[in-house]
Amino acid sequence: MKRIKRIKGTQDILPETSFKWQYIENTVRKIMVRYGYHEIRTPMFEMTELFARGIGQLTDIVSKEMYTFTDRSKKSITLRPECTAPVMRAYLENNLGEARPVQKLYYISPMFRQENPQAGRLRQFHQFGVECIGPSAPEADVETILLGLDIYQELGLTNFTVKINSVGDAESRINYKARLKEFLEPHLTRMCHTCQERYDSNPMRILDCKNESCNSILSDAPQIIDSLTTDAREHFNKVLSLLDQNEVEYQIDHRLVRGLDYYTFTAYEFIGGGLGAQNALGGGGRYDLLAEEIGSKKQTCAVGFAAGIERLIMAMEEENLLPQINSGIDVFIATFGGETQDAGFKLARTLRKNDISVHTELMGRSLKAQMREANRSGARFALILGEEEIKTGRAALKDLLQSEQKEIALSDLVDEILKTRE
Ligand code: HAM
Repeated sequence: MKRIKRIKGTQDILPETSFKWQYIENTVRKIMVRYGYHEIRTPMFEMTELFARGIGQLTDIVSKEMYTFTDRSKKSITLRPECTAPVMRAYLENNLGEARPVQKLYYISPMFRQENPQAGRLRQFHQFGVECIGPSAPEADVETILLGLDIYQELGLTNFTVKINSVGDAESRINYKARLKEFLEPHLTRMCHTCQERYDSNPMRILDCKNESCNSILSDAPQIIDSLTTDAREHFNKVLSLLDQNEVEYQIDHRLVRGLDYYTFTAYEFIGGGLGAQNALGGGGRYDLLAEEIGSKKQTCAVGFAAGIERLIMAMEEENLLPQINSGIDVFIATFGGETQDAGFKLARTLRKNDISVHTELMGRSLKAQMREANRSGARFALILGEEEIKTGRAALKDLLQSEQKEIALSDLVDEILKTRE
């Protein structure tokens, strides 16, 4: 029978890699606490409508990348492709705004998009992200950027850039779309098929096109910054001024529009230097109109970002920043089978109750094979327990790190091992 394999675009995260994930996740959680964020966990799947209305019907995500299925009760369900719409749904559904005017929420979760897999682009990928719901102030936008920067800095990452733009409010966008379409019209026949399609449906997304001939036309396109309303311009200026005051280096990218429709005012991305085609480490912005899109009667201001963990790992590997696996095993107990194996098994339990990590032999192998296993396991010590040792209550404790050996009383074992941790 054919062996069943994992689904294209998914990954098994094996022990030597999950160790790196834990390191990143722990760092993320540490910085989240520093900024006063609390974790939120929303379901892995939602009603399809949440994403269709929240992210936008015409976006790539909704029109061609979602894992959507009909369940037994004929409801259309979608595996979440992102977490901003679910977090806003949860915020509204649980009346979180009543409890606190500012809710700072974070998540570290898998997301699902049926994209063409390549380096840094998967079908199940993982994001850490934040959503700051409540404030309209530009300080909130900048706080999320600083938080992202602090995470990357804490992890030692240096090769990345912050790109920022304003996509304005609804009025700015109406003005801008009209100007952009006027500019594009005479060039349209020379533009790619996707751009031609987007001309009517979503003209601002044309700015995102990577096609060379479109690119050269777009380099002279009008910039949204010149179509911003006074409110939107003031907001953007304050964001830039706060970034300057906090000594954040950034590039204004007039063509940064993002691939999700819910953004208003600030849009930004963290771009990795050595990542090739999939170089967006993370991205986000303000989304003051999303709550109403998904059925709220009241406008709810919000800003946030999400960042890909797989891409972060690639970037950290480039800069050699990831730690090596540390087994955390204190002692390997080697025995000679029979009664000695039972005694070793029991001793392991006593040690574990004293917060000591222990490996015991589970395959009934020779002493030589067990010592090889002890070295392979990364254990700091090996303890050889034979009939004589059990009778006398004394055994050889071998320090595998220092290649030293000393005889100790088994009753002193816990203290001996804990001493080496001090
Ligand atoms: P996004 O730009 O779609 O934004 O995704 C954020 C990050 O997730 C990307 O910059 C990238 O690092 C990672 N990512 C996206 N797709 C994939 C993929 N197929 N494989 C690997 N990594 C991927 C959002 O998801 C918004 N919800 C961000 C946000 C939060 N905006 C406001 N709040």
